[in-house]
Amino acid sequence: MSEKLHTPPAMSYGDYLGLDTLLSAQRPRSDEHDELLFIIIHQASELWLKLSIHELSAARQHIRDDDLGPAFKMIARVSRIQGQLIQSWDVLGTMTPSDYHALRPHLGQSSGFQSFQYRMLEFLMGAKDASMLRVHETTEVYGVLEAALAEPSLYDECVRLLSRRGFDIPAQLLERDLRLPHEADAAVEAAWVSVYRDPERYWDLYELAEKLVDLEFRFQQWRFAHLKTVERIIGFKQGTGGSAGAAYLAKALEGSFFPELFRVRTSL
Ligand code: HEM
Repeated sequence: MSEKLHTPPAMSYGDYLGLDTLLSAQRPRSDEHDELLFIIIHQASELWLKLSIHELSAARQHIRDDDLGPAFKMIARVSRIQGQLIQSWDVLGTMTPSDYHALRPHLGQSSGFQSFQYRMLEFLMGAKDASMLRVHETTEVYGVLEAALAEPSLYDECVRLLSRRGFDIPAQLLERDLRLPHEADAAVEAAWVSVYRDPERYWDLYELAEKLVDLEFRFQQWRFAHLKTVERIIGFKQGTGGSAGAAYLAKALEGSFFPELFRVRTSL
């Protein structure tokens, strides 16, 4: 081994990655063996959410700028990140109901429902719901989340792109209240039908559509695995955040970020 490898560097691995902070951020509240797993799964998920927001915000800007190539790369990366997030349920699934029961009293009212980044990502994808701001009212991130609610989502930018490409998109859709979720629209569906009927002519829009479908598909897979993990661990008990638990999580599976992209399948 070279001598250089053993000399303390000016900037070390730990300095660069802020490992002092990162590795001291696991502070179990009990002596339960599984609490470290529980904390790390959540923290790792939050890091992946952070990267997903970074990538999808940039992808949205590229779509706004009619620069689809880099947006495709970023959206594809997020789909892979979602793969990691889905995989993490397998690790968490090794925790039994008895293990969780022992640490649940130590969680207080803390719940993923209060995840600021999860809500940011939902808003960015287009699942706008102003009532979700309430739980953040007294926090310093409230303003950021409120601003995200009022911004065009990734899908709003895609609908605007369809309009710029000459598809007949109603003006009221382009000027809609962005604080509300996008509702399925016949003109948008007709535009996507044209794209899917003639992929060669509209190749980049066709590729964009399929990349969005990948995103939604995996988001729903994550939600489904969350629901099933919850059923497996706490059954049908209420959540620590105070919701009905599994029934609350099941409701989210009924929604769609990009409704016309799924309806188009029926029309083809
Ligand atoms: C033992 C493991 C887990 C259990 C029992 C559980 C349970 C629940 C329940 C019951 C809810 C509904 C809100 C409530 O009443 O608290 C919820 C929401 C949520 N959980 Fe989990 N969860 C677990 C693990 C995770 C993990 C690892 C993450 C990763 C970040 C996560 C993220 C979320 C998010 C983002 C929500 C809000 C979903 C929404 O509002 O649609 N959960 N969880």
